[in-house]
Amino acid sequence: MTAVEEVGELKGSLWVPQAAEIAREAGARLREFFAQGVETEYKGDVDLVTVADRTCEALIKGRLAEVFPEHGVYGEEGTRDRMEGEFRWYVDPLDGTTNFAHGFPQFCVSLGLEQRKPGLTAEEDGRIVAGVIYDPMRDELFTSERGKGATLNGKTIAVSKTEVLAESLLATGFPSRKRHDSPNVHFYHEFTLRSHGVRRAGSAALDLAYVACGRLEAFWEFNLNPWDTAAGALLVEEAGGRITDYGGGPFELNSNEVLASNGRIHGELVGLFQNMFAGRNLEPIPTPEEFAQRRAERAAAALAR
Ligand code: IPD
Ligand code: CA
Ligand code: CA
Repeated sequence: MTAVEEVGELKGSLWVPQAAEIAREAGARLREFFAQGVETEYKGDVDLVTVADRTCEALIKGRLAEVFPEHGVYGEEGTRDRMEGEFRWYVDPLDGTTNFAHGFPQFCVSLGLEQRKPGLTAEEDGRIVAGVIYDPMRDELFTSERGKGATLNGKTIAVSKTEVLAESLLATGFPSRKRHDSPNVHFYHEFTLRSHGVRRAGSAALDLAYVACGRLEAFWEFNLNPWDTAAGALLVEEAGGRITDYGGGPFELNSNEVLASNGRIHGELVGLFQNMFAGRNLEPIPTPEEFAQRRAERAAAALAR
């Protein structure tokens, strides 16, 4: 290993611990705001923001500048610092604002670190190399670094082993901006009837973290932003799952399509998306009797193996 590689390695080893400390500090502030209650403001028709979103973004931006002064920061609440740099943090200081504003305890802090080839313009993306998601209400810290796996509170996590959509628990989300334009309710309907159910818990970053640790088999959503997905996408991959667009093509940070799964049911999901987009006839939704019969057949086949 050359000296330069060693320095890179050493720096890399600090990304996750430093980001975890910052996410925990921001999470503690969120807990305080949550306990005291905050006023709700409107960014758009039904798009909410609170003093907690803004305060925590300022805190995270300040702390990142202290520990990684050359790194860029791209935050949901408007931070755009050092965007031409090699490294940039995608920051969602409070993912799940609507939940937070209603006292519904499902939200998190999400920090994803991107590394870019030298010479790229501010508009060009690189690849995510580290990510941290912190749920302050459950004190759950999800971390990942490229090539080094994913953890929950320090223990290695892996995606679920479920092989079929029919036995899967899924999650999705709906946008608050231009929500009447979203086609997602049709997908929600189909996937609900072909699985154990679809949760809509209101924090995309936690949904991705839950796929990574096997609580969910898959998650999809239209029109998310890089600060929602950067950390969670790496978590899913490092936990052995897959993240793509709805056609099975590579997931991009600025993509309008996010489909994350345990990998085992990915083909089934992509097939359903493709048939629905093409308006092709779908396989009929199984009746309750067919569901039971197919489950019994799978169990018998598993026993015979
Ligand atoms: C939202 C949450 C939600 C998703 C929305 C996002 P925010 O982020 O992740 O689950 O359905 O599309 O905008 O606004 O609470 O940070
Ligand atoms: Ca968000
Ligand atoms: Ca947010």
